[in-house]
Amino acid sequence: MERLSFDHLGPHARAWNLAMAASPGPLDLEIPAAAIDGAIPGPLRGGRLLSNGPGWTVIGGRVAHPFDGHGYVRAFEFREDGGVRLRARFVGTRVYRDEAAAGRILYRGLATNVEGGRRRNLGLRSGAPRNVANTTITRWGDRLIAGWEGGTPHALDAESLETLGEETFGGLIAGQATLAHMRKDAARGRLVLCSSAGARNPRLTFRELDVDGALVASRSVTIPGSLFIHDFVITPNWYVISGNPMRLKLGALAQMLSGGGTLLDAVAADEARPGVLHLIPRSGVGPARTVRLPDHAFVVHFGGAFERDGAVIVDACAFRSYTFGEEFGYRGPNAPFDPALPDARAPQRLYRVTIPAGAEVATWAQLVPHGVDFPRVHPDGDGCEVDLLFGACRADPRHSDPFDTILRVDLRDPERPPQLWTAPPDLFVGEPIFAPDPARGDAGHVLAILSDGLGGASTLAIFDAAALDAGPIARVRTPLLPIAFHGDWDPR
Ligand SMILES: [Fe+2]
Repeated sequence: MERLSFDHLGPHARAWNLAMAASPGPLDLEIPAAAIDGAIPGPLRGGRLLSNGPGWTVIGGRVAHPFDGHGYVRAFEFREDGGVRLRARFVGTRVYRDEAAAGRILYRGLATNVEGGRRRNLGLRSGAPRNVANTTITRWGDRLIAGWEGGTPHALDAESLETLGEETFGGLIAGQATLAHMRKDAARGRLVLCSSAGARNPRLTFRELDVDGALVASRSVTIPGSLFIHDFVITPNWYVISGNPMRLKLGALAQMLSGGGTLLDAVAADEARPGVLHLIPRSGVGPARTVRLPDHAFVVHFGGAFERDGAVIVDACAFRSYTFGEEFGYRGPNAPFDPALPDARAPQRLYRVTIPAGAEVATWAQLVPHGVDFPRVHPDGDGCEVDLLFGACRADPRHSDPFDTILRVDLRDPERPPQLWTAPPDLFVGEPIFAPDPARGDAGHVLAILSDGLGGASTLAIFDAAALDAGPIARVRTPLLPIAFHGDWDPR
């Protein structure tokens, strides 16, 4: 842990800190079938679970905000003989290479400053240089892409996970801030990216690429005001983003520019403005539509979206209000994470938003009582109506992260209570990824990584998607892996 100690903390906070700060480094492990609790289901064999997230967060004794921790990609490869190979690599960004050589933080991030006071943190560079490629991992054609919020994604060798360099798709997105979240239009065989330029009245460019990464369609739009955009969804006719209204805190902005605070300190959700969604036509014909939501809404993650009889229907996890900088219980560079910190704010709720054809106002219905994040659907489900949504939540519906529970929502029958599975005390669950069984329609398995900080181990838990509440049907135990952000199922 370098200079930071968690010994004085209670068991829950110690477990969380050990999981957040875990940094096992590059791994190449063969886990034989005999060492696995239960059997790897046949339909998973030959495929792999991919995962990305910060893998080095306590750097030179300073706690980096998890958004600024170095990208660490994990691949659980399911062997035909029932064994599992775990491979893990840091994304070899320029920032990672330089900081690994120096053993300390050299680049100012979104929410982390360099040690040494204001003089070393001056100016507007905040965030931009610290591309740590730690947010998403996407398999597309022959490519494996590690995404980050404010810069260009990185290309990895699809087998070895070694970093090849920035992924610009032949220069198409070179130098552009491209969202870490990408969408796959499986029906049309397209990967959809969203790049943005400018903090006020941002210019968003959506690009659709074929399986070889060649540009097939592109649409740019200017959105008025300032907004926070992290995720988007697609339907056959629309790109959908949330108009999360933001305001700059002028005092904190001045602090940030003079090296005293961070970019995340300087922005806040603007609760004076209503929640809206923006619908941008994929065809390039016609203007963007701005649709008002029933209440304040700050959407970080979307589930799916589709169209029915001209209406656009979107599943979204929305906060009523959002505070930047305290994610994961972050309390600055010299303090442990506080897992109770997120409990002070109202959690995000999962809504089904319905936008009738031509409407300027949407309706919404809360789907489950829980505070849901990491919503995931069938990997080919972007833009289509799907039966099931999986997510992470807390068993106690008053709270959300850190997550201890995964849930399954039957979208065809929203009156039906969700299926839930809660991890043992002081264990944490990550994003659940649905791996469909290609032979059985919507059947398949759900894969989630459990972190046991106190026990010094992680477990890949595998559930039958039809009976999530019955608990894992197989468990693969590994060294303690750091808490991850997002993953992908690669059927190979
Ligand atoms: Fe995300």
